[in-house]
Amino acid sequence: MAKHAEIILDGKSYKFPLVEGSEGEIGIDISNLMEETGAVTLDFGYKNTGATKSAITFLDGDKGILRYRGYSIEDLAAKSNFLEVSYLLIFGELPTSEQLDKFSADIKNHTMVHEDIKKILDGFPSTSHPMGVLASLFCAQTAFYPESLDPNRSSELVYLSIIRSLAKMPTFAAWAYKNAVGHPVNYPDNSLNYCSRFLKMMFALPADHYEIDPVVSDALDKLLILHADHEQNCSTSTVRIVGSSKASIYSAISAGINALWGPLHGGANQEVILMLEQIKKDGGDTDKWIAKAKDKNDPFRLMGFGHRVYKNFDPRAKIIKKAADDVLEKLGVNDPTLEIAMKLEEVALRDPYFIERKLYPNVDFYSGIIYRALGIPVDMFTVMFAIGRLPGWIAQWKELRENKEPIGRPRQIYTGQNLREYVPLGKR
Ligand code: CMC
Repeated sequence: MAKHAEIILDGKSYKFPLVEGSEGEIGIDISNLMEETGAVTLDFGYKNTGATKSAITFLDGDKGILRYRGYSIEDLAAKSNFLEVSYLLIFGELPTSEQLDKFSADIKNHTMVHEDIKKILDGFPSTSHPMGVLASLFCAQTAFYPESLDPNRSSELVYLSIIRSLAKMPTFAAWAYKNAVGHPVNYPDNSLNYCSRFLKMMFALPADHYEIDPVVSDALDKLLILHADHEQNCSTSTVRIVGSSKASIYSAISAGINALWGPLHGGANQEVILMLEQIKKDGGDTDKWIAKAKDKNDPFRLMGFGHRVYKNFDPRAKIIKKAADDVLEKLGVNDPTLEIAMKLEEVALRDPYFIERKLYPNVDFYSGIIYRALGIPVDMFTVMFAIGRLPGWIAQWKELRENKEPIGRPRQIYTGQNLREYVPLGKR
């Protein structure tokens, strides 16, 4: 195979080297394109642009493959747990028992948040969406740990920032929920594991005894694993681009939380449930809603369908569909929206519109159904995604630092006005 790609511009030929990834993907290295040709590439939504070399996550959208550090998502979801996967993503290898014990103990040591965080929380009206509260509280850590503003100070500080991020995320998330319902916050119970600790902070009421249901805690752990990383998606690219300016890890991750919030990204799980409920309320006619999704004059899209990268099937959706069936059965939940979801899926998968465009159910098509069965309110769905995605964001931020990547700064093709003369007020 050729070792370069050739671009001919104005009759002149330029050669650019090819780079090959460990799974055989080919990239054209155009780092010197502008310098050599004076031209830039144009790629809306970066659909064809590799922004970095990364050793964290491999995914093949056509074959439906997703691997973290070389381990298949199927294996990890079946055999591992969220903290183990977090360690793997961040440090590159599965931990030994001693390493995992230390990692887990370090996290437990930092689950408390500064008491003044409560004052910030108190400033938010209860109408605030928990994602906005979460992003704000996460960023507020820069105020409590000002040394984090210098991310290159030492590797000990980087480790501490990573531990603090993982430790405090469930506390912030549960407190964002408590703010929305107007309840007093709960403090972390360090006798519990990561997911159970979060569930207790979220659901325990002062006067009641809260019993952890292992079915709920295990299902949550699996969901977090499935969401833990997904290479250069919108929120991860945001974390990397903010991190590339050498802003603190807390600001970079806070930016990632905001990017995740949108309905085309992490917000889709919330939109799926709202959509299923709307269809149910409307009489449950799935054909009508499929027709709406296909109508170019109708802004409606089938939420939870389609993916920028997966054009065959989303391996996470396969695992999660089975998990949804298991959880609903174990908890004895009979959710009529699941039936609508299954009908929608069945109709869409037979419809040429969806087949031609390679639109399949993605991870969010079923995650909302599980979250609801676990008792998690709709507004918190995207927050759950953020808890899951945190180790991925951390790993990508750490890799960016270690690779000493330059500041992210895309180019553009300017299409505005050419130079014109200023017209004073009153003469316009
Ligand atoms: N319903 C109906 N039509 C769709 C849908 C959908 N959900 N998704 C894509 N299309 C159509 C789209 O109208 C376009 O048709 P045409 O070629 O005739 O103009 C074609 O399929 C390609 O769509 P696109 O928007 O160019 O594809 P994209 O790769 O830019 O967008 C997507 C991917 C996920 C944003 C999109 O499929 C979508 O909006 N899906 C619904 C939202 C959703 O479920 N998002 C969660 C993604 S998974 C979680 C995560 O990893 O963030």
